[in-house]
Amino acid sequence: MAKHSIRGYSALQITLHWAIAILVLFQLLFGESMTAVVDASEEGTAVSGQDQFLGSAHYWVGLGVLGLVLIRLALRVVSGVPQAAGARSWMSVVASATHWAFYALLVAMPVTGLLTYFDVWDLGEVHSLGKPVFIILTLVHAGAALFHAIFLRDGTLRRMIEPVR
Ligand code: HEM
Repeated sequence: MAKHSIRGYSALQITLHWAIAILVLFQLLFGESMTAVVDASEEGTAVSGQDQFLGSAHYWVGLGVLGLVLIRLALRVVSGVPQAAGARSWMSVVASATHWAFYALLVAMPVTGLLTYFDVWDLGEVHSLGKPVFIILTLVHAGAALFHAIFLRDGTLRRMIEPVR
């Protein structure tokens, strides 16, 4: 169970947050190259050098995301997360639901990708469906962060930029 007594995020927690965000953005922007590689291998057709390169990158970046998310979850269990800053109770419920949906998706995407890639279980359609879900969650998450920064001015965004310990 996560502890809620800490005042803010550590430098490691903040670094992990932004590193994962950048890697996921890469996956969302260039994931279709992996689809092109998979389609070409099924159809016995050739794939461009660029798709080949981006398809390999998709594999390694996805594994990286999985590793970093597991470290982040472990840190969350060990060190906890700060309490929602001055937010109304319904806001902390939505924030908490969004955060756990992110964690679920961040684990589910690499796992469904690996199962599909290694022909264990064809979850390619489920994996691809993760893309719009990720985009919607990110819009809600980033929108809420900006709302806190511009209207509530309660330091919620700042604490994911400035470490406290
Ligand atoms: C956070 C991690 C990941 C994200 C956000 C992600 C995202 C995506 C996206 C956006 C696509 C393109 C879907 C489309 O064509 O519309 C895709 C395709 C694919 N990805 Fe990933 N991916 C991740 C990790 C992985 C990993 C670790 C693997 C392992 C090899 C993988 C294997 C695949 C495969 C096989 C496809 C083609 C699916 C198909 O067309 O049937 N992905 N991914």
